[in-house]
Order: sequence, then structure tokens, then C-alpha cells
Amino acid sequence: MGAAGWAFVPAIRGNPAFELAAIAEPAAEVRETVAAEFGVAASPDLPSMLATTPLDAVYIATPTEMHPEHVAQASAAKKHILTEKPMAVRVEQAQAMIAAAERAGVVLQVGHSHSYDPPIARMREIVASGALGRVRMIHTWNFTDWMARPRRAAELDVAQGGGVTYRQGAHQVDMLRLIGGGLVTSVRATTFDWDESRRSIGAHTIFLNFSDGAAATAVYNGYGYFSGAELTAGVGEWGMAEQANPRSAPPPTTPEQELAAKRKRARNAIPANATHQPHFGLTLVSCERGDIRQSSDGLLVYSERGCEKVVLPSDRSPRDRVIEEFADAIAGKPVTHTGRWGLANLEVCTAALESSRIGKEIELQHQIAVAK
Ligand SMILES: NC(=O)c1ccc[n+]([C@@H]2O[C@H](COP(=O)([O-])OP(=O)(O)OC[C@H]3O[C@@H](n4cnc5c(N)ncnc54)[C@H](O)[C@@H]3O)[C@@H](O)[C@H]2O)c1
Repeated sequence: MGAAGWAFVPAIRGNPAFELAAIAEPAAEVRETVAAEFGVAASPDLPSMLATTPLDAVYIATPTEMHPEHVAQASAAKKHILTEKPMAVRVEQAQAMIAAAERAGVVLQVGHSHSYDPPIARMREIVASGALGRVRMIHTWNFTDWMARPRRAAELDVAQGGGVTYRQGAHQVDMLRLIGGGLVTSVRATTFDWDESRRSIGAHTIFLNFSDGAAATAVYNGYGYFSGAELTAGVGEWGMAEQANPRSAPPPTTPEQELAAKRKRARNAIPANATHQPHFGLTLVSCERGDIRQSSDGLLVYSERGCEKVVLPSDRSPRDRVIEEFADAIAGKPVTHTGRWGLANLEVCTAALESSRIGKEIELQHQIAVAK
């Protein structure tokens, strides 16, 4: 299991609607550790897990480029599916994944993303309430050391879903689409690959137009010389204090060292409990009659009534909220983060890459609105 897989275990085991029954993991050392620690069945791959263990649902936290194959296998076995973001590399793959789940009559949900963070969800509620008038501008800007952390080669290969626009833009686009209502009409972007020693897309600026005239920007710089947490009271992505200059150690030099460092880091990379609300960079929402931003423990809402502090509950992690939404989806309730919603996020990310490549604005075709 990688960082994503490890991070989900507490949420799965903490929700009475689910039981962690089995894992599939090709790396023998990791597989044996997980099986022993949690007392679950362990298989070297997904087909053998599906064939040997009775299951109702599968959480797919494999590398992005494998999601299409694994969703196809889980759909064919008629299991409900929660898959990590981004759901695939290409829009056509996402369409095939949605069709396979629909044919099988199973749920396909895409999560976790930072739109599950309580402050982002509450921003959406305030916007949808109309209390501050129409939303006009949304900005989400993040500066991290994503490029300097240990990586598999595929994570830096844009053709395999690597680089910050796929991997981190997926969070930003999901947040912006949720707050803005979901319907992006066009995208213009410039992406950057400026580190000769570590080729990939390491930074981007994306401009999004919404169907109601609202506009948004997603800015990401993953080179790690400056941390966006400096703009968010020192609180980072997982609601914990973050160092101001994250790029303090050089990346490992060989692929083997890099993989070993990544595995070592994965176990505790994402904490289950946090002291503050998660801050995936600085997110600022401007409505006609007020502005909203995050604080360490909730939101600050600025209007003609002054600055109102909203403290949000911190008893459930964002992944607890993903699992609750997954249970709702399986129970037939309408939810936001469906396969089609994930496809719409992916369409924005791929359009951003294409826009940067050709230097033009790209019109979108697969956008859907937030579920009511
Ligand atoms: N939502 C989040 O906050 C978040 C955080 C990190 C990663 N992710 C996403 O999760 C996915 C995985 O990222 P990661 O950083 O954890 O990756 P990773 O490379 O650390 O882990 C992937 C795991 O999948 C295993 N694997 C490889 N092939 C497999 C196969 N055929 N069957 C079963 N398991 C297989 C690997 O051995 C490894 O344990 C990516 O899509 C990424 O975008 C999401």
C-alpha cells in the first residue's frame, strides 16, 4: 500500500458499515505487514483477491495509470468501487470505467480529494445558500514540495498521469468545481517543467470559466522552496503544522533508493487525526456581497456584517466523509463524487495540459453540476 492506501485504513475500519476484509498488494514485504497488522486476507493482485475473498466493495489506491484496468476487473466482479483521484489519465478511459460500472450495476465513486475537507464543503454550502449573492471568483493557490518528495518514475511521467496537474490539480479542480457548482465551460492554462534534474510538470496556472460567468484560478508550484502553509497560519494539507521551507533534503539519487524512501514515508504520510482543519493551500471565494477564506479551525466570512468566524467540527477526517458518502451511494442516495463527477475533473486537468501545449483556451463537454 502506498500513502493513499495506508491513509484509508482508519476510515474503513472506523465505519460500522464496512469491514476491512482483504488487501491486494504485489510487494511481499508490504503485503505481509498489512495482513499481520490488521488480520486480513492478502493477495498479490486484484484478480486473485476477487477470486478468493467474498467482498461487496473495493477501494482502488493503485498508481493512477492502473485505475482503468482495476476498475474494469472490479466491475466485472460486480463490486462497488471507490477509486483514487485522478480516476484515470485520459477522458476516454474514464468514460469506459463509468460504462463498465453502469453495466455491472455497481457504484463508482472517486475520492478522496480535498473537496471533502470540511472548510471547502462549508464554502459550497454558503455559496449554494445565496446568502452572499452569486459566487464570482474562486482562487486556490498552493506551494508544496510535491516534486522533491520520493517518487516512482511513472509519477513524474505526464503520459502516465504524473506531474502536479494530474496529481495535485485533481484536488484543486475538484475544490473549485464543488464551490462553483460544477459547470466549467472553458480552461486556459500554462504548465511548467523548469527543473532539468527532475523532468515533469512541476507547476501550473489554470484559469477556469464557469457557465454562470464566475471565474477561478488554480495555481500550483511543487518545487518546494516556499510552502503555501506560510499563507495559512502554518497549517498544511493534513491539518498539521508544516515547515516553512519544505525542500530541506535532496531527493534520493537512484530509483531503488527513491522507491524505498517512498515506501518508508507512505505509512505515516497522511495522519488519521489532525489538530486543525486541512489547508490544501490558500482558497479564497468572492461572492457579490462577501468573501470567504479558511482559518485554522474553520472559515472566516467577510460581509457588511463584519468578519464572522465559523468553527467547524474536527471529529471526522475527510476520509471518514469519503467512506460515509460511499455508504450513501451504495444505499442509492444522490452523491456528488460519482464517476461522472470524476470524469469532469479529469476533463479540466487534461484540458489544462492541452491548453498549455497549444497556447489556446479549450472548451469543455463533460461537465456536470453538483448533486443537490
Ligand atoms: N487522495 C489523496 O489525498 C491521495 C494521496 C496520495 C495518492 N493519491 C492517489 O492514490 C493513487 C496511489 O498513489 P500512492 O502515492 O499511494 O502510490 P504508491 O505508488 O505509493 O502506491 C501504490 C501501491 O499500489 C501497489 N500496486 C502496484 N501495482 C498493483 C497491482 N497490480 N495490484 C495491487 N496493487 C498494486 C504498489 O505496490 C503500491 O503499494 C494515485 O492515483 C494517487 O493520485 C491520493
